[in-house]
Amino acid sequence: MNKVTTGSFITFEGGEGAGKSTQIKRLAARLEALSVPVTLTREPGGSPGAEEIRTLLVTGEGDRWSGLSESLLHFAARADHLERLIKPARSRGDWVLCDRFADSTLAYQGGGHGLNSAAIQTLYDLVVGAQGPDLTLILDLPVEAGLARAASRGEGEDRYEKMGLAFHERLRAAFLEIARQNPQRCVVIDATFDIDTVEAAIWTAVSKRFSLSS
Ligand code: TMP
Repeated sequence: MNKVTTGSFITFEGGEGAGKSTQIKRLAARLEALSVPVTLTREPGGSPGAEEIRTLLVTGEGDRWSGLSESLLHFAARADHLERLIKPARSRGDWVLCDRFADSTLAYQGGGHGLNSAAIQTLYDLVVGAQGPDLTLILDLPVEAGLARAASRGEGEDRYEKMGLAFHERLRAAFLEIARQNPQRCVVIDATFDIDTVEAAIWTAVSKRFSLSS
């Protein structure tokens, strides 16, 4: 019987303006230089249907959705993304690098909006089950610094950025708590440093976790 190869699954998490999108591209380039096949994706989104749901989530007024409605939309997008992009990519042996995943629901809708974590866990079990990430890099930086960086991007996808400072403090604390509770899976990266230093810290974490040499 042929050996079943499954590509590794790495997620990037953190608050607004932490530099995830820059760093995920740098990690992809480093892996590709070692001939590792990579699929780069993001949430909410990553598949055509999930990208449509993304528009509902990242635009409009802050109070457009309740914490529960928002979580259901995120998990609906995630179910489509997993079925149509993540699982097929991993089955062909690609490493999947994803800009945000289910920890963002725990942090934003749980920590930020106060939806109870048991409800989110129920949705997680239904949608993700055993298909979760092997490694999660949590890019951490003070809320005000992150929001200032995010505002300078001005992409118009600012529904979450508009939520108050206290919301963003709660979600930062929630990400750190997720890391504390999942030390095997999560590594916290200090994102206050310059881009090259953060890239090096990420590479150290990835090469250690997957025994890579560069
Ligand atoms: P991005 O700005 O990193 O592309 O993410 C879009 C927004 O979606 C961001 O403000 C965080 C939010 N989000 C959630 O609130 N819950 C989730 O489960 C995910 C994946 C993202």
